[in-house]
Amino acid sequence: MSLWRYADRLPVEPLVTLDEGDTPLVRAPCLSSLTGCDVWLKVEGANPTGSFKDRGMTVAVSAAVREGAKAVICASTGNTAASAAAYAARAGVRGAVIVPEGKIATGKLAQALMHGARVVALRGNFDQALTLVRELVERHPMSLVNSVNDFRIEGQKTGAFEVCDQLGEAPDVLCIPVGNAGNVTSWWRGFQEYGAAPELHGYQAAGAAPLVQGAPVESPETVASAIRIGNPARWEDAMNAVTGSRGAIRAVTDAQILAAYELLAAREGVFCEPASAASVAGLLAHGAEGRVVCVLTGHGLKDPQTAMTRASSVIPCDATIEAVENAVMGGG
Ligand code: F0G
Repeated sequence: MSLWRYADRLPVEPLVTLDEGDTPLVRAPCLSSLTGCDVWLKVEGANPTGSFKDRGMTVAVSAAVREGAKAVICASTGNTAASAAAYAARAGVRGAVIVPEGKIATGKLAQALMHGARVVALRGNFDQALTLVRELVERHPMSLVNSVNDFRIEGQKTGAFEVCDQLGEAPDVLCIPVGNAGNVTSWWRGFQEYGAAPELHGYQAAGAAPLVQGAPVESPETVASAIRIGNPARWEDAMNAVTGSRGAIRAVTDAQILAAYELLAAREGVFCEPASAASVAGLLAHGAEGRVVCVLTGHGLKDPQTAMTRASSVIPCDATIEAVENAVMGGG
C-alpha cells in the first residue's frame, strides 16, 4: 500500500512512485504520561528517502513527467533535495538542487549526490536559494519542485488522510514543525477535504521564527537545519491554516528541540532528526488536550553529526572476558 490508494483525490497518475506514504502511526506512552494527553507519532522518516517530502515529490515529479519536463530543480535545506534527486533518478530526468553551503545534514547531502543530482552549494541561506531558483526557472525549462508547486501540497495532504484513517477519526490536535510552511498548509488542506478540523499547533525554531514574530528573519539560525528558514514561501497559507483551525504557531528553543530529540530516541525508541522533534518540543513546552498527533517529519539517520555530538560515547574494550564484563556491566 502507498499514498496512491488516495489516487482519486490526487491530480495526476502515479507515473513516478517509490511506494511512498502509508507510514506508521505509533503510540507514545512516555509522552502521554508526561503531558496527560493521548500522544501518537506519525513517523514520516519511514518514507522511501526518509522524509515526508516523498509524498509531495511523487505527485510533483509525476506531473512534471506528464508535462514532458526534462529536468527538475529545487532550493533546499536538505530533505527536498534528497527527495527530488531520488525521484529525478527514478524518472530518468536531470535533477539539480541548491542548498545553503555547510548548512545541510550529511545524510541528505549523501543522498542527493548518490542519486546523481547536480548539487550546488550556495554561499547564502535557504531563502536566497529559493529566490534564485524561482528566477532561474523563468529563464530555463526546468520544473520547480519546491512546495510553491501546488502538486507538492496535493501529495503531502495525504498525511492527514492517513492519520484520520489510522485513528478511525481525526485527532484533537496536530503538532507539526514549520519551515517554509508548505507542510502545515498541506495537512490543513487534507483535513479539510476529509471533513476534519483538528487544532494545528505549528512550531518554529526560536532563531528562525518569522511566523511567530510576524516579520521575516534575515539571518535565521537553529540546530534544526531543516527549518532554518527566515521568509516562508507559504506564509499566508500557513497563517490561514492555523487560524482556521483555532490553533497557533509558536517558537521552541534549540535546547527544547534537542531535549525532545533525545527523549524520543531514548524513551520512545523513535529516532527523528532535530527539526522533526520541534513538534514534540512544542507539545512539551506549550501543552495540549485530548488526542494529539505529532508529525515526525524526517529520520534521525539524516543527521548523524548532531546525533554523535549529543549522544554518550562508545566504550573501548580489550578482547578479554574480564574487560568485556567490565565494559558491559559498567564496573570500574
Ligand atoms: N521537517 C523537516 C525534516 C524538513 O525537512 C522540513 C522542511 C520541515 C520540517 C518543514 O516543512 O518547509 O513544509 O514547513 N524542509 C525543506 C527542505 C525546507 O528543503 O528540505 P515546511
